[in-house]
Amino acid sequence: MKRYAIVGATSAIAEHCARIWLTKEDLDLTLVARNKERAESVVQDLRVRSPGSVIRIIEGDLVTPSSIEDIVREICQAGDVDCVLIAHGSLPDQEACQNDLARSANELSVNGISPALFAEAFANKMSISGRGQIGIIGSVAGDRGRKSNYIYGAAKGLLTRYAQGLQHRFAGTDVVITLVKPGPTQTPMTAHLSDEGPKMADVTAVAQTIVNGMAKERPVVYAPGKWLIIMMIIRHLPRFIFNRMDI
Ligand SMILES: NC(=O)c1ccc[n+]([C@@H]2O[C@H](COP(=O)([O-])OP(=O)(O)OC[C@H]3O[C@@H](n4cnc5c(N)ncnc54)[C@H](OP(=O)(O)O)[C@@H]3O)[C@@H](O)[C@H]2O)c1
Repeated sequence: MKRYAIVGATSAIAEHCARIWLTKEDLDLTLVARNKERAESVVQDLRVRSPGSVIRIIEGDLVTPSSIEDIVREICQAGDVDCVLIAHGSLPDQEACQNDLARSANELSVNGISPALFAEAFANKMSISGRGQIGIIGSVAGDRGRKSNYIYGAAKGLLTRYAQGLQHRFAGTDVVITLVKPGPTQTPMTAHLSDEGPKMADVTAVAQTIVNGMAKERPVVYAPGKWLIIMMIIRHLPRFIFNRMDI
């Protein structure tokens, strides 16, 4: 049975990826969550969908480096991991971050440093086994900083550079790194942005795009795919035009 792990198990996007993976084959799946009780309902649902799979939860602090090391060691001690999806994150209020450096530091850590450290810990294990895939969920917000969410965007931008470096490190090997960049998607993270509802992508479709992109071992997956074009335009907009935009 292939061994999969998901960090941020209660993420709606990750849960839908897990559902798709489990329709294809039975898996040995470890779900990492900061709160076991919240993850329990996810596990129960996945077990019903895939009775032949072995699914467990590891609860832990997802931010402290020593805790990240312990969690990854525990997962990898049981055997080589075929595929990891690093999915946790939080969408902070930009203005609140601007007025509270501790809050900014926490958001930069949760959305940037922590996922990078999880990827680094798994990558070090995979460099020994010589194989495996790591999917890291970044965001289109990391492609260009903008006033309405640049603390979150900076953290996600860190993941873009980090994933590039990791891809360079493992180029030509059987260790595959996929950076996923969702656009706005209907999940609990964006529930408060309900007036933007129609513009948001459906989480099932986003998960399917992620699963397909990872199966094709793509280095970068925009989900939905249209964000590849949109962000290419946004990234290349001259500053004098970009600075006039209220985004
Ligand atoms: N939804 C979007 O529009 C969108 C767009 C671009 C990128 N993304 C990215 O996609 C990923 C998944 O998000 P989602 O949309 O599936 O959101 P979600 O359903 O709200 O899930 C967020 C996940 O992150 C965890 N989390 C939140 N704050 C945390 C913290 N301080 N420490 C550790 N874990 C924390 C949550 O755990 P708890 O259950 O314990 O709170 C949950 O597992 C995130 O990396 C997000 O940045 C989402």
